[in-house]
Amino acid sequence: MSAVPEPEAAPDAAAAGATADGEGHRRLAVGLIGTGRIARTGHLPAYAAADVPVAAICGRTSAGAERLAAQWSGPGRPRLYTSAVELAADPAVELIDVATRPTGRLELIRALLPAGKPLLVQKPLAYTLAEAELIVAEAEGAGVPLAVNHNLRWSPPQRLLTQWLDDGLLGDLVHLAHVHHFSEDLTAWYTDHPGYLFLDHGLHYLDMVRWYARRPVLEVTARAAFTPGQRARCPLSYTIMLKFDGPLVASLTLHNATCSQGAWASNLWVNGTRGDAHLTYDSAGLMLPDHEPAVVQPPGEWVPDGIAGAYTAFVDALARGTRPPHEGRDHLRSLALAEAAWESSRHDGAWMPVPAVTGSSVAAATLASADAAHVPAISSAVGTTPKGRL
Ligand SMILES: NC(=O)c1ccc[n+]([C@@H]2O[C@H](COP(=O)([O-])OP(=O)(O)OC[C@H]3O[C@@H](n4cnc5c(N)ncnc54)[C@H](O)[C@@H]3O)[C@@H](O)[C@H]2O)c1
Repeated sequence: MSAVPEPEAAPDAAAAGATADGEGHRRLAVGLIGTGRIARTGHLPAYAAADVPVAAICGRTSAGAERLAAQWSGPGRPRLYTSAVELAADPAVELIDVATRPTGRLELIRALLPAGKPLLVQKPLAYTLAEAELIVAEAEGAGVPLAVNHNLRWSPPQRLLTQWLDDGLLGDLVHLAHVHHFSEDLTAWYTDHPGYLFLDHGLHYLDMVRWYARRPVLEVTARAAFTPGQRARCPLSYTIMLKFDGPLVASLTLHNATCSQGAWASNLWVNGTRGDAHLTYDSAGLMLPDHEPAVVQPPGEWVPDGIAGAYTAFVDALARGTRPPHEGRDHLRSLALAEAAWESSRHDGAWMPVPAVTGSSVAAATLASADAAHVPAISSAVGTTPKGRL
């Protein structure tokens, strides 16, 4: 018996605190699989602050599940499991949130599909496009909605930029540049993967550029480097250029080995035919002709606020019967780009074609309408992960 005994009867979804969101959609009670770093610092705080019921938690060990459950301050009392399949079968679980590592995802998701419940999965879906494609195809074949936790899209400054683009304030994009400085010079399971910089951390930024460009990336070139004496087993710096059909030029650099935290910074410049924008970790600036520049500092952080946004956009899409903007097939396009960029970096920056991922594409405008305005800013209440680690 793998379910960890719970003194109280598990509540059903309604009793667990399922509430109506700003659009009148009921919040779906979450079954959370994985009790590690992002579950602790991102998922649980996000759900508690947004009043999302967590009906069940599954860890590899009952001690891990108990530790995480002890941190839960939101509605309901999660039932604890050490079997993901048993969590999926729990009638109180309406949406399954997968916060495990990418390795082993195919087997895990295969085991979850028979339950037929929507899956919100941490990025990257898998370390290879081929495996991620299989996951998406099997979920589609089983008729199970699957979305990927691209929480950066819902960070408070990014939500503003999305809105400005949807409103046409910037006109047509002609230039985009992202420059990010952080430090992950450490040995950990994630930096042990040779493609970490592109397939995991940098995946957020490549996805972000795709999101704003709103057109396919045709080719990519990338250089990557190890810092002399570094501990991490993966490269810690990249520079990337993207090729689109049309006048847009876009570049990204990531230096993930700064000498001190004082050097951490995130800058995104987006320039259009009518206006310009500049985003940092915590601000969004809009520069329009004949207007004073406007700089907004919306409350909230990428983690956990963006995670609440990814959940809400998924639940809203399910309630409307539309496909979520972060559906699995959309994620495949970002992963295809990341994989091609990593490949280019191993061929001295040779231009690599980005394979097209067939299947329909979700309009970016869906994001703005699904904007989680009713999910409160919550980061001040919790200890967040370092800002640059997404
Ligand atoms: N979106 C973001 O901002 C962000 C930030 C950090 C990490 N991540 C991603 O989140 C995922 C998890 O990362 P992490 O740092 O939390 O890893 P972690 O190793 O700290 O946690 C993973 C957890 O999953 C558990 N687990 C694995 N298989 C399981 C199973 N079958 N049943 C139950 N539990 C199982 C492990 O015991 C562990 O507790 C990764 O894909 C990572 O890339 C995303």
